Amino acid sequence: MQEPPGLPWLRLVLAVSLDGRLAPPEGGAAQLGGAGDRRVLEEALAWADACLIGAETLRRHGTTCLIRAPDLLNRLACQGRSRQPVAIVVSRRGLLPPELPFFRQPLERWLLVAEEPAEPPAGFDRTLALPDWPAALAQLGRLGLERVAVLGGAALARSLLVADRLDELQLTLCPRLLGGSHLWLPPGASAPAAAAWVLREHRNLGGGELLLRYVRESCGSGPERSSS
Ligand SMILES: NC(=O)c1ccc[n+]([C@@H]2O[C@H](COP(=O)([O-])OP(=O)(O)OC[C@H]3O[C@@H](n4cnc5c(N)ncnc54)[C@H](OP(=O)(O)O)[C@@H]3O)[C@@H](O)[C@H]2O)c1
Repeated sequence: MQEPPGLPWLRLVLAVSLDGRLAPPEGGAAQLGGAGDRRVLEEALAWADACLIGAETLRRHGTTCLIRAPDLLNRLACQGRSRQPVAIVVSRRGLLPPELPFFRQPLERWLLVAEEPAEPPAGFDRTLALPDWPAALAQLGRLGLERVAVLGGAALARSLLVADRLDELQLTLCPRLLGGSHLWLPPGASAPAAAAWVLREHRNLGGGELLLRYVRESCGSGPERSSS
């Protein structure tokens, strides 16, 4: 994928079961990842300027992951960067219950919504329109975001894959078999057939977990920033 200059680099970050599920058959949180996955998730957050979160994931979990590891927080402080990436919620309807604990987390919160409301919904610092992904991502680029971690869920991942907007996949393979219908790439999603992915990193995270990091073949190495 050839990116016009100024578009942020998008890294999808997910924990998946051996059979490719990201949630149990009944939905909700699978508690898939262990300590190793938590570490690489925080490393990805420390790499990122912002993260994208599907509204349904937020409604189900109530909160988003924060960087807590002291070494990562120290490094961010030394680099003069914010302690947490900007949390950008992606929604068509823009309905996020204000009582969610997410709204009390120490974060800058943006909302990316299909139609920009006249008044920004309570709890968000900024609201942006999402007419389509190229336009929305160009706007994020103009706002200075270079690295974005996409934290799922499956509907958000599918939308970005179908639009051919993902540059990198960071998957933690977890030693569980979940079954059910919650594949990380849902059936019917036609990912670009020509896409080829090049393995950039594999790491044994302990506890039977394996980190796999792939980039799109035509993307080069991406915006480097040490996070591990
Ligand atoms: N294992 C993991 O690493 C991991 C990570 C994240 C989530 N999960 C699991 O995934 C499940 C939730 O995933 P999900 O697929 O049901 O939902 P999701 O992707 O988190 O959120 C779907 C919602 O995001 C909004 N959305 C998605 N694409 C959009 C687009 N192109 N334009 C505008 N809005 C868009 C819509 O919000 P509105 O409904 O507000 O319009 C849509 O209903 C949960 O079970 C969660 O535990 C697992």
